[in-house]
Amino acid sequence: MDRIVIRGGNRLVGTIPISGAKNAALPLLIASLLTTDTLTLRNLPRLADVNQLVRILGNHGVEYTIAGKRPGESVDAGQTVRLDAAHVIDTTAPYELVSKMRASFWVIAPLLARMGEARVSLPGGCAIGTRPVDLLLMALERLGASISIDGGYVVAKAPQGLRGAEIEFPKVTVGGTHVALMAASLAHGTTVIRNAAREPEIADLAECLVKMGARISGAGTDVVEIQGVARLGGASHVVLPDRIEAGTYAAAAAMTGGDVLLEGAKPEALGAALDALRAAGATVTVEELGLRVRRDGGEIAPVDVTTAPFPGFATDLQAQFMALMTRAKGRSRITETIFENRFMHVQELARLGARIRLDGDTAVVEGVDKLDGAPVMATDLRASVSLVIAALAARGETTVNRVYHLDRGFERLEAKLCACGADVQRLAA
Ligand code: EPZ
Repeated sequence: MDRIVIRGGNRLVGTIPISGAKNAALPLLIASLLTTDTLTLRNLPRLADVNQLVRILGNHGVEYTIAGKRPGESVDAGQTVRLDAAHVIDTTAPYELVSKMRASFWVIAPLLARMGEARVSLPGGCAIGTRPVDLLLMALERLGASISIDGGYVVAKAPQGLRGAEIEFPKVTVGGTHVALMAASLAHGTTVIRNAAREPEIADLAECLVKMGARISGAGTDVVEIQGVARLGGASHVVLPDRIEAGTYAAAAAMTGGDVLLEGAKPEALGAALDALRAAGATVTVEELGLRVRRDGGEIAPVDVTTAPFPGFATDLQAQFMALMTRAKGRSRITETIFENRFMHVQELARLGARIRLDGDTAVVEGVDKLDGAPVMATDLRASVSLVIAALAARGETTVNRVYHLDRGFERLEAKLCACGADVQRLAA
């Protein structure tokens, strides 16, 4: 298994191009199952999760071509993928695939809406806690599907097609909203989703569905209305920039007292994270090409944050912000409200000298004057990258093991950091 070795202490200075968003790319790829025509997706990040999902779609009969690099194109240009789901050959998504990537469960929506049936494995446990799918199934039932569980599989049926309905989520769910949007697009009649997730990735999926012929209004707000259509067609769509990648490098720039232009980053997509970074002492300015984040000489101020659905502080940035807080001048409290077990980075940050105490759903971080390099590992991609951020400011050498977690969600991580002066090296197993 590859490792990454980081020698800390260098300021990050330079430009980091932000890739297409993983969490937008995944539902967009799945949306290809909704049509017999070609869906072209541009600016897809080169990530293990994207490749894995493309393979999963191949299992259902989706044919795809990934365009090679054009002459003169930058190494940072995203990929273009053409997906053609004219012939769906299998409506079953097996355990071996769904258990590796939870988002692949979402294929249930287009398969059910277009083919009238789907048999999709329950995803099972996950490193960041129990992640049930009850609300996704509730949404499909509201749309008229019959749902049963058979041998670890969800069997969803709607032989006469789905019909529009009122869906009110008791809790904000990104996956639930994606599933409801895709399924309702091909249902008979009108669907209203209440308490919908407002994440930018939802609006991006809706924008693509509209290009495919869906009739959707209100995506990006908490009430979304969908008038179902009989069929959807092909489209071409550019994946939006990754706000979590941008927030991660913003935290790294602040951590190292650096000055980094996050090329392509959109300030409005970062929600409360930008306020938290500013409160911690970073200067964030919106420039023509993106967002500039820098921290001059001064200390890192302690800032309390509580994760919340968008536009609140993203749970996917919690670990990275905690890494920053390990060097703050004073005590900060970081409360995780979305997932109940998303603190695995705490013990690993402690190996670098961080002082963090867990108090239920809150991590109490006492800032320290210095961190020291050590071998560390993590169990999910955001936790792994928080260790990279801490290592960039630690004295000496840190080895981050299990790099495959990083490869799931961060494109060319070490190249992007090295281009800004970091000392990061990947060692093959
Ligand atoms: C998406 O997961 C993201 N994944 C996650 O990013 C992200 O952390 C999460 O949204 C929250 O922002 C993708 O977009 C591929 P949810 P999702 O449904 O859709 C509970 C990363 O690191 N819930 O919004 O699975 C659930 O347990 C990943 O890139 C139910 O109770 O998250 C959680 O507490 C990790 N029942 C809350 O809702 C359900 O049926 C929000 O989960 C569904 C969810």
